Amino acid sequence: MNLENIRYKKPGTFEETRFEKIHNVIFKDSTEPSVLIAHEIANLIKEKEAKRKPCVLGLATGSSPIKVYEELVRLHKEEGLSFANVITFNLDEYYPMDKSNIQSYFYFMHEHLFNHVDILPQNINIPDGKVSADDLYQYCIDYEMKIKSVGGLDFQLLGIGRTGHIGFNEPGSHFNSGTRSITLDHITRVDAAPAFLGIDNVPRKAITMGIGTVMGAKRIVLLSWGNNKAEIVQKTIEGDITSEVPATYLQNHKNTTFILDEGAATELTRVKTPWLVTSCNWDESLKLKAVVWLSELLNKSILKLTDSDYNNNGMSGLLTEEGTAYDLNIKMFNRLQHTITGWPGGKPNADDSNRPERAVPERKRIIIFSPHPDDDVISMGGTFDRLVEQGHDVHVAYQTSGNIAVSDEEALKFAEITQSLCPNCDETQSIINFFRIKTDNDIDSEKVRKLKGLIRRNESLAATRYLGLNDKNVHFLDLPFYETGTIKKNNIGSEDVAIMKDLIDKIKPHQIYAAGDLADPHGTHKVCLDALFLSIEALKHNNYMNDCWVWLYRGAWHEWESYQIEMAVPMSPDQVLKKRHAIFYHQSQKDGVMFQGDDSREFWVRAEDRNRLTAKKYNDLGLADYAAIEAFKRYYF
Ligand code: F6R
Repeated sequence: MNLENIRYKKPGTFEETRFEKIHNVIFKDSTEPSVLIAHEIANLIKEKEAKRKPCVLGLATGSSPIKVYEELVRLHKEEGLSFANVITFNLDEYYPMDKSNIQSYFYFMHEHLFNHVDILPQNINIPDGKVSADDLYQYCIDYEMKIKSVGGLDFQLLGIGRTGHIGFNEPGSHFNSGTRSITLDHITRVDAAPAFLGIDNVPRKAITMGIGTVMGAKRIVLLSWGNNKAEIVQKTIEGDITSEVPATYLQNHKNTTFILDEGAATELTRVKTPWLVTSCNWDESLKLKAVVWLSELLNKSILKLTDSDYNNNGMSGLLTEEGTAYDLNIKMFNRLQHTITGWPGGKPNADDSNRPERAVPERKRIIIFSPHPDDDVISMGGTFDRLVEQGHDVHVAYQTSGNIAVSDEEALKFAEITQSLCPNCDETQSIINFFRIKTDNDIDSEKVRKLKGLIRRNESLAATRYLGLNDKNVHFLDLPFYETGTIKKNNIGSEDVAIMKDLIDKIKPHQIYAAGDLADPHGTHKVCLDALFLSIEALKHNNYMNDCWVWLYRGAWHEWESYQIEMAVPMSPDQVLKKRHAIFYHQSQKDGVMFQGDDSREFWVRAEDRNRLTAKKYNDLGLADYAAIEAFKRYYF
């Protein structure tokens, strides 16, 4: 794609966008569009510079624009893009908030952009989180006036919150609101909690530009990545304008483009149910998706769907291709039926033509990659158990140490026990001393991180032993990208990939299981998956990789849709219990853990609910009634 593709076009102009009220473009992932948007901004800066005019940019913080800033920095360093004529206004800042605080948006902007380009410090405007309460009202009016005095915003970059906020304009914000102080919505605070190491530390208030301020921009680009945003993106683009979803006000802006990745676009009508929008090219997976959707919509099992059910729901084209509902139903029912197996490593001596896995080799070498030291049992504990029981050579590789998710109280408990056993141990004493003086802003010392990592390591070993695995088959990769001591992780590096590649090359697996869960709120799963994909890319020319099948499970936050599942492993009630016990070994992650998100259920409850729901969905489609099912989708390379 090029810049022309993302230029504003009136939404609803084409048949496929007829449900849409905001122009949007969908990309596979965030990398390519972030570069394109950075180039749009760079061109604007240069155009303005040629006219000897300032370029006024409205900027956002958060995870969405990070790659745009990376590319702008690259353009400055490698291609001489100058920011000398740029004036910036940031959307918002927490209140109260000190500039030096690593959670401040002031800090974020300097770290990601301003420290690396030649912008004049006096041209940077970020709401000041330290203005006194008495001065705040006037301060906001002045911020607004300052934007007007430089000619208004030429370009506004936005992200969107799950509440539908833009800037920090939370639900209830008025369409003509200006810069002001605002109380943050609970969901927004939950989403910010990881960065603040717990919701209690997240400020309750913020200063934000208003909807009116943003709407005054000549061009607006909103970026949204990942499944987590899919629902709010759909409401914003297709719903009615309402103060309950403040981003819907953008429907009235004449030059707004939403840039989405496939995850964020999943709920749009043209993506979710394209047959309701226009005529489709029906490949086998789209047929299954449509039939499952129809069955769920009408609350009827697949084999009971009739010709008129299809005709009345936008699928007459499909029936014309397939003949009758009867033929189509049976075909799709069988397809789903063939995903079910109690032999995830393949059934020995069985005809495998309609099974998800190969019968040979009978005893497979298998690596289960687990981003954190517990995703293996949470997401595929039942399948893990079967693979071991059915005699495969199973290895587990924990990709990160997971140290950041161990609370100080938990770590102190272990340090104190160790000290009781070994009163003269200096290392333990230094850890205990560290906790005595630690403040909210302090990053854990290396020793503390080591202790926290060890806690998770030993919990993992307890769980894998319980599932019958030998310790020598358990690998702790401690990928370096994760070891920053803070929530913000480094980008994936060649060292990470090298570690993954080494293990794969050593084991030469017939099966790899990995977390394909891109809705992980902190992005660790995504980086771990990227590291796997890069490793596979580098190794795929080796002969043994021709025999390697990759299966993706989803982590604690999300499940595959029924139509996406390519292997469904049923669990008996006893296996559900065994899985629960395996999860229990991860004691530091029980009882209100640090990174719970907005789902207050413990991980074992989430896992059970999810596996039960997958089984129920299969049953509702007309398949057998299982207690629980774990689901996988194959990754082809
Ligand atoms: C940030 C801001 C917010 C974020 C939104 C999305 O300055 O104003 O509206 O854009 O909360 O945050 P991320 O990008 O972290 O998903």
